[in-house]
Amino acid sequence: MIVPVDSAAPEPEILARAAEVLRRGGLVAFPTETVYGLGAHAMDPAAVAGIYAAKGRPGYNPLIVHTADAEGARALAAAWPQAAARLAEAFWPGPLTLVVPKRAGVPDAVTAGLPSVALRVPAHPVAHALLRTAGLPVAAPSANRSTEVSPTTARHVERGLGDRVDLILDGGPCPVGIESTVVSLVSAVPTLLRPGSVSVDELRRVVGEVALPAAEPGGEAARPSPGMMDRHYAPRAPLRMLPRDGRAEALRRAAEAGGRVGALLLAPVDDARLGPVIRMPADPAGYAARLYAALHEMDEAGVDAILVDPVPDGGAWAGIRDRLRRAVTG
Ligand code: TXA
Ligand code: MG
Repeated sequence: MIVPVDSAAPEPEILARAAEVLRRGGLVAFPTETVYGLGAHAMDPAAVAGIYAAKGRPGYNPLIVHTADAEGARALAAAWPQAAARLAEAFWPGPLTLVVPKRAGVPDAVTAGLPSVALRVPAHPVAHALLRTAGLPVAAPSANRSTEVSPTTARHVERGLGDRVDLILDGGPCPVGIESTVVSLVSAVPTLLRPGSVSVDELRRVVGEVALPAAEPGGEAARPSPGMMDRHYAPRAPLRMLPRDGRAEALRRAAEAGGRVGALLLAPVDDARLGPVIRMPADPAGYAARLYAALHEMDEAGVDAILVDPVPDGGAWAGIRDRLRRAVTG
């Protein structure tokens, strides 16, 4: 069930109701600044199992635990390296997740049996107020079925998860639009596990060296961040990147091939056979905020294929390149 909530000043009675659902072990979808999260009481293994069941998420993919403040996050960690303190100070509340050694009380259900836990203090007023009201750590992955496109509106959540969720708080569209940057602090050098809107350059300004992820052999479950499956964030129709050279020709050929061909473009195209065509913002923040909604619109339009203009190089676009690469078919 969807309940509208004031995104700037969430109504206390709605928060109290959502907090009660969490306390009783239920599932609440709520807006964060990145994407909508599917929340459950992080210290209740049965509640956490409900997240995996609702999403169809493989059990080896650990969850992020959300807290109202850095002290709450730190209470779940067995160690709090200086880099964690610096990054938390610089970027929390905000779209950054820190992986640190976990304290014994954190259930294995949350961390998929890993000795570490992923922690985030979200900045969105609804997420923050819900965490304060519930007074619990809340495990929350993105509120979509596993491998599908993450939700940036309450309607996306409802379309993907329907009545698998006890309560969906509708606080409008998520302003950042792609998931948090994930950094591991379990080894001496902070290591990027997932690029996001907090860029590597910004991280380096705060902690100096940041290692980039190495390609790991050994399959999905053996990766340093097991959820980073190659195919992820994927719309239903096959998605292909357009070439930088020969773009017009590639668009023309796709239109001639027939079927409904949608496109996410950075420059105009004049071909009435294509559609829907979504003109994407040319700045990385604007592009990220629009990306998942655009992919959901393609799903809803029932297109047969999606073509996407390549996005610029550079650190500010890294999170977007990562998500597009994972959404590409084949
Ligand atoms: O922006 C976000 O981070 C959103 C909102 C709801 O906060 N959440 C989100 O959660 O994107 P999810 O479950 O879709 O992605 C969690 C990522 C996965 O790639 C997972 O593998 C990684 O965090 N992760 C979680 N715990 C980890 C751990 N102990 N070690 C390494 N990676 C971990
Ligand atoms: Mg996800």
